[in-house]
Formats: sequence, structure tokens, C-alpha cells
Amino acid sequence: FHVDWDLVTAEKAGYDHFMLKEIYEQPKAYRDTMLGRIADDNKSVFLKELTMTAEYIKSIRKVHIVACGTAYHAGLVGKSVIESLARIPAENDVASEYRYRSPIITPDTLVIVVSQSGETADTLAALREAKRSGARVLAITNVVGSSVAREADDVIVTWAGPEIAVASTKAYTSQLIAFYLFGLHLAGVLGTQEQSAVEELIAGLHQLPEQVESILEQSAVLKQVAESISHHKSLFFIGRGVDYAVAQEGSLKLKEISYIHSEAYAAGELKHGTLALIEEGIPVIALITQEALYEKTLSNIKEVKARGAHVLGIANAGFETEAAKSVDELFTIPKTLPLLTPALSVLPLQLISYYASLALGHDVDKPRNLAKSVTVE
Ligand code: G6P
Repeated sequence: FHVDWDLVTAEKAGYDHFMLKEIYEQPKAYRDTMLGRIADDNKSVFLKELTMTAEYIKSIRKVHIVACGTAYHAGLVGKSVIESLARIPAENDVASEYRYRSPIITPDTLVIVVSQSGETADTLAALREAKRSGARVLAITNVVGSSVAREADDVIVTWAGPEIAVASTKAYTSQLIAFYLFGLHLAGVLGTQEQSAVEELIAGLHQLPEQVESILEQSAVLKQVAESISHHKSLFFIGRGVDYAVAQEGSLKLKEISYIHSEAYAAGELKHGTLALIEEGIPVIALITQEALYEKTLSNIKEVKARGAHVLGIANAGFETEAAKSVDELFTIPKTLPLLTPALSVLPLQLISYYASLALGHDVDKPRNLAKSVTVE
């Protein structure tokens, strides 16, 4: 009796690629990242690993979120989370820019570095710069004992498990979960949210893993979308608010592994130039998950439709009939709170990128010119 196998095949656990395996591991990554960090009565979040005191938290006047690549995109959502839950102003920087713009870092600045590997040279250098300037540094990382984890004052570990594919998926969404938990932790100390709002968010967080599973079950339609996209040279992602943050991640993912050119645009900014590039048949992926911005985003969709774009809308349940009227195709994600939608809306974008890369015959897990972890500046 002889079985042919090799270690890599075994590690892929039946999936064709690590990326697909990691996409499907997201429900578990969400659960593991939340595990032990939400009180049993679901009324509060406690991050007992944090050494920062309540007194310190009350002294924070601004937050700088610094990272590279996909982790930077998680930070864009993190800014919205911190500003809306804790009402502390937050700004984002790509790590390779941060040091050179002489950022105003004061002792009341909390610097949050986000890094899957915890070894990205630019991120590590930004961390060191922040510490030199007297700020406290919180790291959100997937690797316990990494350089970033060792040098930061505080660490929130994302329990996504090892991520092998160069294109980051489960690490990104686990970083989002870490931001939600940290935002709720800050809100708990600062009293910036009504108790009912906190409990609603916690209930929403608990629902995410099952909601992700229901999206994964619809991968066949996303495969079709990806196959039609793969014939195009260029496409656009649009959205407002956190939808714009997710659009940027969707665009990066597609570029990384399918090599199709794409751009992410704040939906309202299109008319200030980019609209000139919208021509007959060009695919536009529009994220329409923010209830307060529906009307505005729909009017931007009309602008691109009027110029012949083929629009795939990604909307949340409850809005599908309305959204369906404005788009050519619609993918519906389960209903959640506006702030939590990125943890769902990015899933179809990950799958579209995966299947587009596959359709074009590229090496999904090891795209050309890219490394999983970049340890040079
Ligand atoms: C590389 C990878 C990206 C990743 C970025 C940041 O460029 O190809 O997928 O997002 O580094 O990595 P980090 O480990 O710091 O999150």
C-alpha cells in the first residue's frame, strides 16, 4: 500500500491553494481572535494582555496607525473604528512614509503598528521612531514573539494562525477584529458609547463567523464574476466611508495576484477626474453597505453606468431590492452593523481575486515580484 503525498499538499488540507484554504479559515480566525476577550455576559470587552492603564487611555489625544500593504488597509478601517467608538482622532500612514514626514508624535499619541508577520522593516522602523519620540506603541500582529511584538509596549495578537499565501486574507480580517475589540476596550474605559451600543456591537461580532460562512457558500457566483473580469485590462472599485477602505483592499488583492490593473476610488471623488477613464464595458465593483450613504453612492453608480460601465454591486441584505435597480449584478452580504461590514464585504473581493488569478493561470500563492514578508526598507 502506497500513498503519494508531500508536506505542502498535506498542509493545504485538500484545498488547491493556500490562499483558498486561508479564505475558508476566516470564520475560525474570527472566533479565535475574539476568544477570551469578550465577557461571558456579552456586555464588555476585556483585553487583559494590555498593560496600558485606564489613566493612560484617558490621556490619549491622538492615534497614529502605521503599517504596509494589506495591514495598512486594515488600519484604514481601524481609524473609523477608533474615531467612532472612542472619539479620539486617528490618522493613517504607510510605514515607509511615516518617518520621513517628521510626524508630530507627542507622549499623548498612541501609535498603533499593524503587521501580520511582525517583521516588516518599514513598520519596525516606524515603531522605533515612535518610541524614540516618546509615544506608546501598540502592535497588532499575527506572530507572537516577532520583532514588532517584542519591541512594542503592548500587543494584541490576531489568532489567524500561519498565513502562507503572499496575498493576505485571514490576517487582514483578524486585524479588523482586533481593531473592533480595541475600539470597544477604549470605549469601555472612556465611557464614549451607550451600553446598548456596546452590546449591539458585541452581538454583531459574534454573528460574523456564521455570516462569513454563508458568503463562502456562494463562491460559485463569484467565480463566474471573476472569470468575466479576467478578460479585462482594467477595472475600478468604488465606495464611501469604510466601503472605500475595503475598496482599496479589494483593488490591491486583485492587482497582487491577477496582475489586472485596478484602482480604488472614493465614490464621490470619481467626478474629479477618474470619470474620464470610465468607458463602455469597463467593470466597476461598487460597495454599497453604508445605509447613511446609500443615496450618494447610488448616484455615483448612475454616473458610471451612464458612461457604459458594467457595475457589480456589493450590498447588504435589507437593501438588495433598492440596490438591484441601479447595478448590473448584485452580490448580497448578510446584514450587520455599518461599522462591521468590512469584515464581510471584503470576502467576495478576496474570492473574486482568487478566481481571477486562477482563470488567468497565475501562481496564486506566489505572485511574481512579491514576498510574504519584506525585511528590507
Ligand atoms: C508584503 C506582503 C503584503 C503585506 C505587507 C505587510 O508586501 O506581500 O501582503 O500586506 O508585506 O506585511 P505585514 O507582515 O507587515 O503585515
